[in-house]
Amino acid sequence: MAHFEKAKNLHDWLNQRLAIDTLRRVLATEYWIPKNINFLWAMGMILATTFGILLISGIFLLMYYKPDVKLAFDSVNYTIMDEVGYGWLWRHIHGVAASVVFLIIYIHMFTGIYYGSYKRGRELIWLSGMLLFVTFSAEAFSGYMLPWGQMSYWAGMVITNLFSLGSLNLNGLVEWIRGDYVPGDAFLNRFFMLHVLLLPLIIIGLIVFHFGTLRIPHVNNQDGEEIDFDAEAKKYLAGDTKNAKVIRFQWDFLSKDIFVLGIFLIFFFYLVFYHYEFAMDPVNFDPADGLKTPPHIYPEWYFLWSYEILRPFPKDPGLIAFGFAQVIFFLLPFLDRSPNVAPANRRGLFAVWFWVLLIDMIVLTVMGKVPPQGVFNTIGLYAALTFIGLWILLPIITMLEKKK
Ligand code: HEM
Repeated sequence: MAHFEKAKNLHDWLNQRLAIDTLRRVLATEYWIPKNINFLWAMGMILATTFGILLISGIFLLMYYKPDVKLAFDSVNYTIMDEVGYGWLWRHIHGVAASVVFLIIYIHMFTGIYYGSYKRGRELIWLSGMLLFVTFSAEAFSGYMLPWGQMSYWAGMVITNLFSLGSLNLNGLVEWIRGDYVPGDAFLNRFFMLHVLLLPLIIIGLIVFHFGTLRIPHVNNQDGEEIDFDAEAKKYLAGDTKNAKVIRFQWDFLSKDIFVLGIFLIFFFYLVFYHYEFAMDPVNFDPADGLKTPPHIYPEWYFLWSYEILRPFPKDPGLIAFGFAQVIFFLLPFLDRSPNVAPANRRGLFAVWFWVLLIDMIVLTVMGKVPPQGVFNTIGLYAALTFIGLWILLPIITMLEKKK
């Protein structure tokens, strides 16, 4: 065991055991961030903060929530909303944060795609990010089950039905997942466990891993320039901060991050106090009823694009297309065959690919919300085919791209 001297003060005592001075030195003088970045590089910190907000508000909700099909709906809609002091506030904070976190995740992902931040050396940043995306999706879905309203029940029914894998008819698997023939008490209890324990634990682990994957390749920059961090850091430390291409993590970078975070929080609390209803589906204010199917079942806005890739096709091809949409983003670092790390607008056809993908996913999102009839069905079908086509084209257009 290491030799422990008598500590002079609390700082010294902690330092002997946790090496806090080393951590501070690394963050303040040994971890470098490129100077050439913009506000989009603050999204990661905003995501970490929003996850913190979700955890804290979730803990308050957990004090009164009851995971029982007979009690769940009332525990949310009466106890928390009407009876507990400020219960409504914690619920609105939790609901709005759950929705907004996906907006920021999509901005963060598309920033990475635009600037090529998933390329050689940064593949694990991207893959751990995608694992976070999938786990966050499962977290949001399981949370949506908890108020046990009409949309909770029927979305739970539709999504778990997907596991029968179309004409393979794996109904046994669906029943195993539900713990019953239809969503009921066993179903609600296990999704409650996933939502408040297992998935948050996995998310915390993945966030730590995601940060770890950033340590060696460092974050990318607006020009995709390969920076010699050691040389630039030396320049900075020698006092040439003007010409050095790097800044310190603490407080050069953090102060900018905190500024963008402040603006985000103003927007966030504006939504919480004035527009929380966008994050709450009115149909979910009716208690779950297994005998009354709502006329139109749709997921929350952030799942609509992938839902719309499932819907316009017949059952089996629809499921295959849906599966494709779930995994294809994982493969981005390997499907993009160009070694160029540069913003999309300097990468020829890739710029077209990027913007068409973004617009196509917005069209899919809008089409996923409207009833699948007439012209909407046709637009949805073409948008889904465009999505699949874009990913098939990606290796070809990036292979043709001229080397920088
Ligand atoms: C949901 C929780 C997430 C958290 C807390 C998080 C956090 C962060 C942080 C703090 C950074 C460094 C600063 C920045 O560039 O913003 C970062 C970078 C990055 N993240 Fe995430 N992230 C999350 C999800 C994702 C997802 C879903 C993806 C995409 C699949 C992703 C891909 C990336 C990439 C590619 C970078 C590197 C950016 C660069 O090199 O310029 N992250 N993340």
